[in-house]
Amino acid sequence: MLIRTKRDWELPESAATPESVYINRRALMAGAGAIAGGLALGGTARAADVPVAAPVRNPAYTLDRPVTPEAAATSYNNFYEFGTSKDVVTAAQKMPLRPWTLRIDGMVEKPLTLGVDDLLKAMPVEERLYRHRCVEAWAMAVPWMGFPLAKLVAFAKPLSSATYVELQTFGRDTYAAPGLRQPFYPWPYVEGLTMAEATNDLAFISTGLYGKPLQGQNGAPLRLTLPWKYGFKSVKSIVRITFTDKKPKTFWALLNADEYGFWANVNPAVPHPRWSQAHERLLGSNESVPTQIFNGYGAQVAGLYKGLEKEALFM
Ligand code: MTE
Repeated sequence: MLIRTKRDWELPESAATPESVYINRRALMAGAGAIAGGLALGGTARAADVPVAAPVRNPAYTLDRPVTPEAAATSYNNFYEFGTSKDVVTAAQKMPLRPWTLRIDGMVEKPLTLGVDDLLKAMPVEERLYRHRCVEAWAMAVPWMGFPLAKLVAFAKPLSSATYVELQTFGRDTYAAPGLRQPFYPWPYVEGLTMAEATNDLAFISTGLYGKPLQGQNGAPLRLTLPWKYGFKSVKSIVRITFTDKKPKTFWALLNADEYGFWANVNPAVPHPRWSQAHERLLGSNESVPTQIFNGYGAQVAGLYKGLEKEALFM
C-alpha cells in the first residue's frame, strides 16, 4: 500500500508482535471500571484522560478466533499521517484529543459542528468483538467500543437525495502531524460509503478498544470500523462527515484504484497484484488462516451488493 517508497507495505516479518496475553472479561471490566470512575477533561487531554461510558458487550458479535493481544493491536498500526512505518505510537500519542470537533455537512437538513463529548453523550455506546482484515494480509480480532454509524447518520438528518457518506481525517489545518508533510499523498485522508453501507448494522464508529478509550495510533477519538472491508476503509481520527450524491474520491483510490478501490470488500479470490489475499497472518500468534469472503460477514452484508457483484467484489 505504501506505493511511493520501497516495500514496507509488504509485511515485514520483523514486525512480529508480542507473545499472547489472553484478554479476559475481568481485565476488561477492570479497565472499564477505571474509566467509569471518571476523570476531568483537560484542554488537551490524551487518550487515558478521556472519560467514556463503560462498555456493555453486544452478544450478537462473536469471534471464530482468540482476541488479539492488546499490546499487538495498539503497537502495530497503519496511520500514514504519522509516517509510513507500523511504529507510530510515539508520534500519534502526541496528538491532542481535546478539544475535538466534528463537522457534519453537505446534504443534511442543517450543517453543524459539535464537540466530540457532546456527540458521545447523544450516542449509545456498546462493545463489539470484530475481526479486522488489512489489505496487507494481516488480521486482528479486537473488542471495540463505540456506536453504530447508523445512529450518527440518523443524528445528522441527511436529505433523502444523499446517496454517499464521506468521512475525513484531520488535515494540517487541524493538526500538523509529521506525515502530512509528504506532499505526494492526497491529504486529507478521505473514505466513503454508500448510504446503504453506512446504515448497515455492522458499520461502527469506534471510540474505545479493550475497554479503554481509543489511543491516538488506533484513530482516537472517532474512528470508522468496517469489519467486512479491507482495513484502509476504516478511516481514523475523523473531523468531518459529509453527505453527498457524488461517489467520494477516496485517499487510496486516488493513488491506485485498481489496488485500493472504493468498494474494498474482503475477497480471498481476488489477489492484490503483488500478493495473494487467500490467507491472513494473525497479529500476536503469526498463525496463517484462510481469509473469508466479506471477512466472514457475508450473512450481514452480501445483500448490499446484489447486482453490483462485478464491481463491488473486485476492489
Ligand atoms: N486512517 C487514516 N487517517 N490514515 C491511515 O493511514 N490506515 C488504514 C486505516 N485507517 C489509515 C487509516 C489502514 S491501511 C488500516 S489496516 C487501519 O487503519 C489500521 O488500523 P489499526 O492501526 O487500528 O489496526
